[in-house]
Amino acid sequence: MFSTDETTDFGYKKVSISEKTLRVSQVFHSVASKYDLMNDLMSLGMHRLWKRVTVELSQVRPNDKVLDVAGGTGDLTRLFAKRVGEHGKVTLLDINESMLAIGRDRLIDSALIDNVQVLQANAEALPFGDDHFDCLSIAFGLRNVTDKMTALQSMYRVLKPGGCLLILEFSKPILSFLQTLYDRYSFDILPKLGQWIVNDALSYQYLVESIRCHPDQESLKSLILAAGFDQCEYHNFSGGIVALHRAWKF
Ligand SMILES: C[S@@+](CC[C@H](N)C(=O)[O-])C[C@H]1O[C@@H](n2cnc3c(N)ncnc32)[C@H](O)[C@@H]1O
Repeated sequence: MFSTDETTDFGYKKVSISEKTLRVSQVFHSVASKYDLMNDLMSLGMHRLWKRVTVELSQVRPNDKVLDVAGGTGDLTRLFAKRVGEHGKVTLLDINESMLAIGRDRLIDSALIDNVQVLQANAEALPFGDDHFDCLSIAFGLRNVTDKMTALQSMYRVLKPGGCLLILEFSKPILSFLQTLYDRYSFDILPKLGQWIVNDALSYQYLVESIRCHPDQESLKSLILAAGFDQCEYHNFSGGIVALHRAWKF
């Protein structure tokens, strides 16, 4: 969906399409080993709750086929794997082998192997046939994808009619005092935390900036519908710091 000389956001910087993919990959190679610890510290454990509610709202049932796109270290995959049971199947898909390696180890540690598949692939070109999955999720992944529209169209294609896509992502706080507090926390504290724990402030500076560049609730809903989804609604979590978009293909 891009011409070769087009640029895109990498946080607040404008970079070429290929440079964004490379830089995002460097960010996640750099943070992978401490990614889970940082998630707990940065969100004060709240990401676990947001993910649990996402799976609760997924309507996934035993025997379903689920694709966790940009699934990283596999938090949603593990929750879905328990839900689909031994005859269901969950695919943990990510473009980054460092994140997937941690995800694979954590699945083995949780004894979740039989109904889970781990796959390295790009969300923009999902390697599955049409109408394949009952449910797709992408948590805190879409803002890192270079071409969001192509990724959404690819997700629409592999979703079965009647299936649901869940997009959990940072969004726009709905209360202005919360926005101010959140900005101070994000720009003043998070890069320092990144420097201290991962020895990499720049990756966390990018992650904060990428949140600000990501479409707000209504804009993301419009993008999802423009990609072909037939219905979309969203729920704000923690005052809109995070939103869950649910979209259906009929
Ligand atoms: C912030 S992490 C989220 C991981 C996990 N879903 C979670 O909620 O903890 C973002 C993930 O998106 C992945 N990613 C970025 N671009 C991607 C793409 N084009 N296709 C697949 N995965 C991608 C990164 O490698 C990274 O693992």
